[in-house]
Amino acid sequence: MGTAAQAAASTPGAGLTFPQGFLWGSATASYQIEGAAAEDGRTPSIWDTYSRTPGKVRNGDTGDIATDHYHRWREDVALMADLGIGAYRFSLAWPRIQPTGRGPAVQKGLDFYRRLVDELLEKGIKPVATLYHWDLPQELEDAGGWPERATAERFAEYAGLAADALGDRVKTWTTLNEPWCSAFLGYGSGVHAPGRTNPVDALRAAHHLNLGHGLAVQALRAALPADAQCSVTLNIHHVRPLSRTEDDRDAVRRIDALANRVFTGPMLEGAYPEDLLKDTGTLTDWSFVHDGDLRQIHQPLDFLGVNYYTPTVVSRADGSGTHTSDGHGRSAHTPWPAADEVAFHQPPGETTAMGWAVDATGLYELLRRFGTEFPDLPLIITENGAAFDDYADPEGNVNDPARIDYVRDHLAAVHRAIEDGTDVRGYFLWSLLDNFEWGYGYSKRFGAVYVDYPTGTRIPKASARWYSEVARTGVVPGA
Ligand code: FCB
Repeated sequence: MGTAAQAAASTPGAGLTFPQGFLWGSATASYQIEGAAAEDGRTPSIWDTYSRTPGKVRNGDTGDIATDHYHRWREDVALMADLGIGAYRFSLAWPRIQPTGRGPAVQKGLDFYRRLVDELLEKGIKPVATLYHWDLPQELEDAGGWPERATAERFAEYAGLAADALGDRVKTWTTLNEPWCSAFLGYGSGVHAPGRTNPVDALRAAHHLNLGHGLAVQALRAALPADAQCSVTLNIHHVRPLSRTEDDRDAVRRIDALANRVFTGPMLEGAYPEDLLKDTGTLTDWSFVHDGDLRQIHQPLDFLGVNYYTPTVVSRADGSGTHTSDGHGRSAHTPWPAADEVAFHQPPGETTAMGWAVDATGLYELLRRFGTEFPDLPLIITENGAAFDDYADPEGNVNDPARIDYVRDHLAAVHRAIEDGTDVRGYFLWSLLDNFEWGYGYSKRFGAVYVDYPTGTRIPKASARWYSEVARTGVVPGA
């Protein structure tokens, strides 16, 4: 048992005590909350273009205004301080800092994040910056986007600019958020921006995201003080077989390769998995991987960011599952290249407003897996949370008991993983605020704080009060 495990105590009835120093955070992303889409030199990102394309986002919603965080940031930091939240994971909008994706940084863009970070530090909240949460400058997409190698090089340049400007204030950085979504939803199934649907482009994008990550880590390290922490956030899919048959286990292997090992292979082990190269061999010979790329990608990381919402259940296709549903929206195109013989199944049990099954055991198992496979790499849950159909009652209160249950159960899973020896250092609730949920627009509310969109008014939900207590005490009650 490690020290963290010893410090994670559970006394029946008294709740679960997390280790000293465990980070209690909340998370957001630039396009989902900022608004001010055309202010202070910001140019369109692929999400501006995509959301303006008819039929792509529910109700035709865009991030033009979003939660208006660009103007309300001070109020939002005050909210976090009131709630006693210890860390804030936010993302930098690349098109605000480097509007064309090339050349020098725009001062006004940097100033926005400087002010935000100063305010966070002033209130004792640790800033955790993500460089890329999906808002690629449109100009770079016009030049070919992530399927092109040059985008990875541009990304490293931008990382250097961001670190030069904010590195004296921000000590914890992650490069990419969920590159799986960028590559396979953005270029494969097309349910995310830029909405392209070509399986080879999706694989090329995955490689150039990997390369962008590796180059960006090097750019960050060159610009940041030695005590800075660098990482990446992956939406590790916890993949389970529908049955114990050999065929269904092979479906798990195949999806694990396309969802997880396509990133963890090069990033954490310096190689693409052999089975992935073989499975996709009918589509591409992977000659877009150049000599030396894997060395660039395989950079030491200080922790791995893990986003988890729900498990994935697969079988060998026999017509009973669905090939295209992956929980992120429907498309005639698959996000899973060369995996036509795999079917996806809805896991049993209750679901959130996204239709995602609630399954905290999946988080426990995933943490144990990564803790065992990569024992020297600390883990941080950089996103976990749930959407429900929240509303303000006539007294102006938002009661969301189902979200409290969801978060409590997932925190209990994290606690169990720590007790069992996994090095988990923090938990970031997705999300601080209700926000623009990508293809679902404003129809899905993930916030601990309710946003009344017509007025921008923020109302902390019951879950925010509950989480506040957890963050202040480090104890999860009633678990
Ligand atoms: C993740 C994204 C985040 C949010 C949640 C619900 O895939 O990183 O922006 O949309 O899902």
